[in-house]
Amino acid sequence: MEVVIRADPDEVGRTAADVLEPAVRAGSVIGLATGASPGPLYDDLRRRHGEEDLGFAGCRGFLLDEYVGLAADHPQSYAAVIRRELADAVGLAVEGPDGRARDLVAACERYEAAIDAAGGIDVQVLGIGTDGHLGFNEPSSSLASRTRPKTLTPQTRADNARYFASRDDVPVHVLTQGLGTILQARHLLLLATGPKKAPAVAAALEGPVTTSCPASVLQLHPHVTVLLDEPAAAELQRAEYHRFTAAHKPSWQGW
Ligand code: F6R
Repeated sequence: MEVVIRADPDEVGRTAADVLEPAVRAGSVIGLATGASPGPLYDDLRRRHGEEDLGFAGCRGFLLDEYVGLAADHPQSYAAVIRRELADAVGLAVEGPDGRARDLVAACERYEAAIDAAGGIDVQVLGIGTDGHLGFNEPSSSLASRTRPKTLTPQTRADNARYFASRDDVPVHVLTQGLGTILQARHLLLLATGPKKAPAVAAALEGPVTTSCPASVLQLHPHVTVLLDEPAAAELQRAEYHRFTAAHKPSWQGW
């Protein structure tokens, strides 16, 4: 696991774009998180598309998760968010699990099959919840779970209420790639910024691998890049080591 600490969210976003750019140029399958954490990354990818000829031809996108019951054109459905924040601007085709399906379990099975048929996800962009969730795999999620419906914790609904008129408007249910699904992506790219993420980041990176902190499953993956800003890294015991490692990153080493 490579942990890189940057000064602020914009620097995290620029570094994340550096990590993703070769995959984009190679026409990769990219897993996409939504929420605040990847915002600066998507801003920089749009900029590189416009100013630096970064083409997304041949790439495909797969959403990490989706709310259940929101209309596809609801501004907070993750399909709509990713269209607005990235896909429409760069011409990227993105699929997501169908949160409006009559049979949600079958929709999740179809989504797993679609990811498989695309050859699997090459790089998966991830955020982390204040309760340690990864995707919408809330604490107690099986570390081997596949895409399925889940119930959000009150904490996650409170965290996401800022995007809705009220907390009651935040859907209770979601469809999310499972932790086992996420672990199958070839490269995981976790972005976390701000002081509220510091306890969850420390638990995920330095605590035990446990369903109580779903993001701790990252410790089981052979290729993980974690990009943090200083406040999100504030509770890491090994922050100094990560800074030392980044300062001595060999020129031959990619991401
Ligand atoms: C979003 C997702 C969630 C978020 C997490 C952090 O697709 O899967 O796990 O990444 O809730 O959200 P932000 O980035 O808004 O703090």
